[in-house]
Amino acid sequence: MTYDRYGDDDQLRKSDLPVPKVGPGEVRIRVTRASVNPVDWKVMSGGLDQLMDADFPVIPGWDVAGVVDAVGPDTPEFTEGDRVAAYARKQVVSAGTFAEYVTVMAEDVAAVPDEVPDDVAGALPLTGLTALRVLETLAVTKGESVLVHAASGGVGYLACQLAVAAGAHVVGTASPAKHERLREIGVTPVAHGDGLQERLRDVAPEGFDAVADLVGGVLDTSLAVLRDGGRIASVADPAVEEHGGRWVWVRPDGERLAGLLEEVAGGRLHVRIDTSYPLKRLADAFGASRDGSADGKIVIDVAD
Ligand SMILES: NC(=O)c1ccc[n+]([C@@H]2O[C@H](COP(=O)([O-])OP(=O)(O)OC[C@H]3O[C@@H](n4cnc5c(N)ncnc54)[C@H](OP(=O)(O)O)[C@@H]3O)[C@@H](O)[C@H]2O)c1
Repeated sequence: MTYDRYGDDDQLRKSDLPVPKVGPGEVRIRVTRASVNPVDWKVMSGGLDQLMDADFPVIPGWDVAGVVDAVGPDTPEFTEGDRVAAYARKQVVSAGTFAEYVTVMAEDVAAVPDEVPDDVAGALPLTGLTALRVLETLAVTKGESVLVHAASGGVGYLACQLAVAAGAHVVGTASPAKHERLREIGVTPVAHGDGLQERLRDVAPEGFDAVADLVGGVLDTSLAVLRDGGRIASVADPAVEEHGGRWVWVRPDGERLAGLLEEVAGGRLHVRIDTSYPLKRLADAFGASRDGSADGKIVIDVAD
């Protein structure tokens, strides 16, 4: 699937392009599953044009799972037939993962353990690496109180599990329909919206040691409930840096992704999947991601 210029979902069309060449240090993946992230439709709308160049026609998509189809010269890390996954972002928005084949630098690729099915492996990379980077940035430790905004989202659900595993007391904001699911992973849920600050003070009168903002637009509330000396990181609000916080941007990282896949294989990390769409229905999948109706990750079945 490609688009020729920035625009809405109706820009997406099925195209026939040459199979990409596989250069030195690269792995070519025959894609089985990809997954949709909000950044895919934000990039397509032109929202990241100030940050990244685009080479049209663009194949969108940055998450992938599949099978190694070929390796470039001097790429001993992988062999044809290996099951792999990657956060396949490139420096220029161009040849993404909503395609039959994608090439990725070997250091961004991870082997997928047998226990992890392709749809889970394809849904994990971007959200998992983001959750991990946020947690590492906040340096969450045992016994600390942590607030996760957008706890039910793709990134939030994983960030909550990682914070709980680190021994933190985790409070997560989500719409009420998703509260039970957060309780199941050891998180205290709080509804977002009007009156949020008061509800957060009720559950954490002492304030929070760390805040993970995974939605944006919550900076004032976050600062009001942060303890003196507390840490804050945001994936969605650069203004956090004016208040001593960190604006986090996830990087491709095959080694860390392999660690996350091992956690999934061991049953210690759960990826929630909402729906699988065939590649030709990518526009519908983007729509479901944008309107927030999905309850978990949206997977694209490239073979379907
Ligand atoms: N900087 C980076 O490197 C980076 C990396 C990954 C993602 N991001 C950004 O992070 C955001 C989340 O990504 P995602 O993949 O987790 O998206 P997602 O799976 O679509 O989840 C977003 C969730 O936000 C929740 N939400 C909506 N309004 C909210 C509010 N006011 N307060 C709290 N929660 C609210 C919704 O859950 P409810 O139904 O519970 O309301 C929704 O499920 C996106 O903006 C994305 O672009 C940035």
